[in-house]
Amino acid sequence: MPKLIVVNRAGEEQAVDGDNGLSVMEVIRDSGFDELLALCGGCCSCATCHVYVDPAFADILPTLSEDENDLLDSSEHRTETSRLSCQLVMSDALDGLRVTIAPED
Ligand code: FES
Repeated sequence: MPKLIVVNRAGEEQAVDGDNGLSVMEVIRDSGFDELLALCGGCCSCATCHVYVDPAFADILPTLSEDENDLLDSSEHRTETSRLSCQLVMSDALDGLRVTIAPED
């Protein structure tokens, strides 16, 4: 089972199991991180699941959709490594992916 490393807003890091097929957002939420609101439930319409991803994984992550790009643009905390975690699906290829929960907008 792939591991996901989550860094919360306090900078604390925790490795959690991420079932293949679950979104990174679901894995973070189901692991008890209450900072990730994910208000729309993964429909790519709220941007409250914003995370920063490890640049080492940039090449294997799916490309940004137009909707995801537009939503990230609405965040004042967007960086080059910003993604919406509900749009990233766990797989063995993402084993060890490190994501940092972005500040609240
Ligand atoms: S949970 Fe709403 S955009 Fe990801």
